Amino acid sequence: MKESKPQTNGSTKSAAGPRRVLIFDTTLRDGEQSPGASMNIAEKLETARALEALGVDILEAGFPIASQGDFEAVRAIATELTDVTVCGLARCNDRDIDRAWEALKFARKPRIHVFLATSAIHREHKLKMTREQIVERAVESVRRASGYCPDVEFSPEDAARTEVDFLCEVVEAAIAAGATTVNIPDTVGYAVPSQYAALIRTLRERVPNIDRAVVSVHCHNDLGLAVANSLAACETGAGQVECTINGIGERAGNAALEEIVMAIKTRQDYYGLTTGIKTERLYPMSRMIASITGLKVQRNKAIVGRNAFAHEAGIHQDGMLKERSTYEIMRPEEVGVPKTDLVLGKHSGRHALWERVEALGYHLAETQREELFEDFKTLADKKKEVYDEDLIVLIEKHIQNVPAHWVLVSLHTTSGPSVVPTATIEIRRPDGRIVRDAAIGDGPVDAIFKAVERVTGIAANLREFAVRSVTAGKDAQGEVSLELEVEQGDTTFRGRAASTDIIEASALAYLNAVNAIMSRRELKEPREIIGRPGAGA
Ligand code: KIV
Ligand code: ZN
Repeated sequence: MKESKPQTNGSTKSAAGPRRVLIFDTTLRDGEQSPGASMNIAEKLETARALEALGVDILEAGFPIASQGDFEAVRAIATELTDVTVCGLARCNDRDIDRAWEALKFARKPRIHVFLATSAIHREHKLKMTREQIVERAVESVRRASGYCPDVEFSPEDAARTEVDFLCEVVEAAIAAGATTVNIPDTVGYAVPSQYAALIRTLRERVPNIDRAVVSVHCHNDLGLAVANSLAACETGAGQVECTINGIGERAGNAALEEIVMAIKTRQDYYGLTTGIKTERLYPMSRMIASITGLKVQRNKAIVGRNAFAHEAGIHQDGMLKERSTYEIMRPEEVGVPKTDLVLGKHSGRHALWERVEALGYHLAETQREELFEDFKTLADKKKEVYDEDLIVLIEKHIQNVPAHWVLVSLHTTSGPSVVPTATIEIRRPDGRIVRDAAIGDGPVDAIFKAVERVTGIAANLREFAVRSVTAGKDAQGEVSLELEVEQGDTTFRGRAASTDIIEASALAYLNAVNAIMSRRELKEPREIIGRPGAGA
């Protein structure tokens, strides 16, 4: 290990202009590990396209060994995308690495990301491996991955709690074996900014071959410090930041991409850094992820929250009218917040609709566009004004691409203070036959779910049920999102639907989840239940 190397005084500003930090997006891998955030392949592909258009440098598309679905999603993304580096995750073992390569091999710019825990807690309790065995396994795995492609990332999981000397040793060995990026995860969100920055500085000072690799940071948000830690590390020379849209991820989440990018942009005077992100795509990207995952963005969330640019206090409004910069450090247009949400009405044509869909960051196939246009016309007949949020809900229905095995044909409910809530439904079965049944329940929604269960024969526990108004106004659509658990444990399915009638939306959302269950059964997907990084894997 080498002795200390002269360092800058913290700021990364240089006379040569701002230094470019690589943005590694892991929304589709670490983000998708958020409870309830799982996406299907079509949704992942759509997200990947939007992330590429956003300008991320590296896109972690999934963990191919985790399931057949993960594998296929990584392969589809790797095969289609050409500008961005597509990365697949693997534990440090031959099977994982081979599977990752199998999924990535058609990528124009593939990266294999291997990880192995290094902290004493993980070594002793989880892996039951000695330090020597860890170094040996890391080296073998990086070598195996490098045999497949030159771009290899190594992550010592729980690095932030690993003994510094040992961390330096592992990182040095991984780089010598061929790692071109070394990522330093704060897997459990334990670090604080000055300490994490010092750790990055120490690695840069003490690992002799560190200049042969990009130093990356990956922070979890358990103490609400993920963004602060990532930025502090960039100040001491980190060259890549791993983050997710809206900060979604395991437990309290990962560092939020939009916050990191806008801090770097807005405070370039201080950080002297830049990224390749097209910031005006941040807001549409955030809405797409919120809609696909069902994880709504809190109103006061920095950069992309609904209130992020709203000025309520009279004194602020007065200042804003006189000079925006009195109370505004970023312009809403910079992050793509639309000036007005009002878009279309029943007289709007196809062209106006396609333009709006693209501005919202979606790319739909011709057939999906036509179906969307039909849905849009139906909605516009019911509602005078169709807002962006309404459109997103309609678009999602097409992206979700859950085959409609069971289709709702008709629905009738009765409820009220002095009647027994009852639902009568007609559903078209996969073989085309229409089946009718009725059930009673605690309320009309419960009665519908019981009736659907009787018709489809699919019994499931309702784990979550939420209704939200898509836009303001009495004629607003209500969106129902719910989660069904089929077996005890890991097997949950989400359903989502919107309608101006929330009883109908509830029935459609339930059927949507039931159809997802049917699709999984048809695929007979062998789900290998393996540990997830950061989840005690
Ligand atoms: O949090 C973590 O340690 C991870 C690694 C796989 C990078 O997600
Ligand atoms: Zn992580």
